[in-house]
Amino acid sequence: MAIETIQLDAIQRGSPQTIEETRAWCAHLEAGGILYFPQTPIPIPPSDLQFLLGQQQTGSRVHKNIAYKPDRDQLSGVDKKTATSADLEQLLAVMRRYSVSVDNFLAGFLAPYKRRWRLDYASFRPLEEEGRDLPVRRRNDLLHTDAFPTRPTRGWRILRFFHNIHPTRTRDWVVGDPFARVVKVFAPGKLATPKPDSAATRTAKQLAQSTGLASLIPQWRRTPYDEFMMQLHNTMKEDSAFQARCNCENVEFVPGSSWMVYTETVTHAVLGGQYALEQTFLVDPAAMVTPESAPIAILEKNGARAPGVADRVGLTNRAQRPAGLGFSGSYFATRIFRASPSFDISQMP
Ligand code: SIN
Ligand code: FE
Repeated sequence: MAIETIQLDAIQRGSPQTIEETRAWCAHLEAGGILYFPQTPIPIPPSDLQFLLGQQQTGSRVHKNIAYKPDRDQLSGVDKKTATSADLEQLLAVMRRYSVSVDNFLAGFLAPYKRRWRLDYASFRPLEEEGRDLPVRRRNDLLHTDAFPTRPTRGWRILRFFHNIHPTRTRDWVVGDPFARVVKVFAPGKLATPKPDSAATRTAKQLAQSTGLASLIPQWRRTPYDEFMMQLHNTMKEDSAFQARCNCENVEFVPGSSWMVYTETVTHAVLGGQYALEQTFLVDPAAMVTPESAPIAILEKNGARAPGVADRVGLTNRAQRPAGLGFSGSYFATRIFRASPSFDISQMP
């Protein structure tokens, strides 16, 4: 695992950065590295910070985090027992400001992506992570790669930007092997590598999606790729031998720091820490500076079904597939991704 540390003055020095520098940052993330800012490049206004640190949230088994949904300008997961309506309004404004500022910062910092991402949910994580009582699949203190149970990404990559806003406490992570290595532990032995849906399954999924039934049954919205990534997440958390023997390192993110990482490919766990902000981006795999590092490309190398399958779902030539990628569009299906209106914040990884 590689952590590249970026000092604030390096970002402030040149604006915009050279294209070589921004490409190197993208490549580092895509290779399974972490970009770490000991001092966050996105300072939170002092009154917002004070407000966030004053929030109480009961240690519910239902809600893991508070989410801000930029597409609807809404919050979810708030503990209504302890929050007044004035609190809710202020929290919404604080989260909105945070989300916009991270999006604007990354537009310049990761310029090679040309904003080919969907601004996904932001989250506020006010609970102490150490000793949380959660069911195995929702535990974040077990090593895992992220997958969204009710929001399939269809191959779009999960990039997360974190900020430890605790005034004195580090946020303690464990980081393990990157996807290309860890996937070999599980597939094809414990998990089958993804294969395109059969014609019958595809038809059933299309029908479920067009009638709205798919919003009730998450599996019907998942492509074979999403299904594999979900199973990988679950299997990893449930495999105690893997958890005990993994090749991993501890990382402490100091108070006031930020970091970002592709969490669907970098195995990670949080062991302790309280009060963090996070913004998720779903990045177009075709925007990668190293397309061969996308998880679907790695899966294909490991035996997932290769091009040719695309022809059966109407992607009849390479020009219609994501540019620069050799993999089949059938893993993603042809529909445009939309965040599910029925998303349940308690399932957010
Ligand atoms: C964190 O809250 O620090 C990370 C949790 C996770 O994505 O597993
Ligand atoms: Fe995670």
